[in-house]
Amino acid sequence: MSEPIRFFYRGAVHEVRDAAPTQTILQHLREDLHCTGTKEGCAEGDCGACTVVIGSLEDGELALKAVNSCIQFTPTLDGKALFTVEDLQQPDGALHPVQQALVECHGSQCGFCTPGFAMSLWGMYLKQEGKPASRCQIDDALSGNLCRCTGYRPIIDAARRMAELPPVAFDRAALAERLRGLQRSHGFSYTAHGQRFHVPRTLEELASLRAAYPAAVLLAGSTDVGLWVTKQMRELNDVIYLGQVEALKTVAEQDGMLEIGAGLSLEDAYAAVCRHYPDELGELWQRFASLPIRNAGTLGGNVANGSPIGDSMPWLIALGAQVVLGSGGSRRVLALEDFYLGYQQKDLRPGEFVQALRVPLPRPGVRFRTYKLAKRFDQDISAVCAAFAFTLIGDTIASARIAFGGMAATPKRAATAEALLAGKPWNETTLRAAMAALAQDYAPLSDMRASSGYRMQAAQNLLRRFWFETRLDNPLPASSVNAFAAAGSAA
Ligand SMILES: Cc1cc2nc3c(=O)[nH]c(=O)nc-3n(C[C@H](O)[C@H](O)[C@H](O)COP(=O)(O)OP(=O)(O)OC[C@H]3O[C@@H](n4cnc5c(N)ncnc54)[C@H](O)[C@@H]3O)c2cc1C
Ligand code: FES
Ligand code: FES
Repeated sequence: MSEPIRFFYRGAVHEVRDAAPTQTILQHLREDLHCTGTKEGCAEGDCGACTVVIGSLEDGELALKAVNSCIQFTPTLDGKALFTVEDLQQPDGALHPVQQALVECHGSQCGFCTPGFAMSLWGMYLKQEGKPASRCQIDDALSGNLCRCTGYRPIIDAARRMAELPPVAFDRAALAERLRGLQRSHGFSYTAHGQRFHVPRTLEELASLRAAYPAAVLLAGSTDVGLWVTKQMRELNDVIYLGQVEALKTVAEQDGMLEIGAGLSLEDAYAAVCRHYPDELGELWQRFASLPIRNAGTLGGNVANGSPIGDSMPWLIALGAQVVLGSGGSRRVLALEDFYLGYQQKDLRPGEFVQALRVPLPRPGVRFRTYKLAKRFDQDISAVCAAFAFTLIGDTIASARIAFGGMAATPKRAATAEALLAGKPWNETTLRAAMAALAQDYAPLSDMRASSGYRMQAAQNLLRRFWFETRLDNPLPASSVNAFAAAGSAA
């Protein structure tokens, strides 16, 4: 029999011995622990009714993050702490300021969404250490929670009100100490119900598991894989979980590149890149899914999944990023666009895994923008995602890199338009010719998100927008791009 999963829960170390490895945390809470405050709305990470806060040690420091328990598997909790809405009430029975503010501001009507909102607000309360949050921070914290009753205004009022109430302290040092005591010195494997869940801690352990179990599913943030189980009802036999491999979570600058570990969360990865490209990538960061999805999902998972409508690949490809593929001590480095061979086909050899992304740092003369078109501002998948990186010398385009999502079976460069642009002046005549050339580069599909015609016209118009923002007589400052993000989130 394998060792049990161990995590900190309701003041004690909780052990799980017989849960299926792909049982979700939400199922464990509701069905095994009969702890039913946490609700299921969609079981796919969209509605936030299942939001919990997970505490873990990252580089030795305590991190507390809101995530969707409906798509996280129970063994991923090993060595961590789980907090649910039941943890908010104070030992003397008093409500936590988060709960008190929701009561005072009438932030709950039917109440189904309320535990999830309370946990997202608690995540923000902890991050802000009880201090007031800006409207933008509130919107971001609540971007993964849906409410069909309140119209949101009372919940936003509560998010402000909670900072005015007598504060409740959280003993981070004590939790960090408890978690240190739960860490394993080596990887472990949990087996139950005929399934195995492997948790390596080093690249070496990962590489040998990859070699030993070539058919195993690699699991990172579970924001795609979780849905294979909860929505497609797939059975996963062997799973190799990447979330405890610290070497996949590093960020380093070298030779004009930012190297980001594949296992770094989307939230931390975008924070690292946005330090260098704040105006160019700030809006996309805010609009990528929701905070709980970004807290769990990883940049490596986004790239490895390689969805044609994923948001990171267009800007990574436009900037000339490389993907680093690891396996048993060796590294293979590819231009990211060469990684995608066809719909759901990647140049990933047996035994390999995505180890890191190498992102070029800003270079003189390079004008770069990325744009996401979706039906909603937050928590929506793109219909079209565009990225443009042009190197301008004076008013001449020395080179142009254009990549789109939503326009082909893979994230794809616009080879014809790029060739046409090289060496031309960046003026309206060139722009019009390049817009026309996009029709030779792409033949997009019609689906529930957009028609083929809409996608093509939108893609061409996004190139025009890029021209408006980067032409030499541009009247708009670069920061106007992100001002839109602030305005959009405050609307
Ligand atoms: C509600 C919701 C909203 C979303 N919104 C967006 C959005 O706005 N934009 C967007 O682009 N995506 C979105 N997604 C998709 C998803 O969040 C991303 O694709 C995410 O980056 C996947 O990362 P992950 O770590 O969760 O991957 P996982 O789900 O763990 O894995 C995804 C795939 O990648 C493989 N994999 C993971 N890591 C590695 C690795 N290091 N090496 C090799 N293979 C690996 C897995 O085996 C699997 O095939 C959304 C998903 C949900 C549920
Ligand atoms: S149940 Fe809807 S996000 Fe989890
Ligand atoms: S109070 Fe009813 S869904 Fe939010």
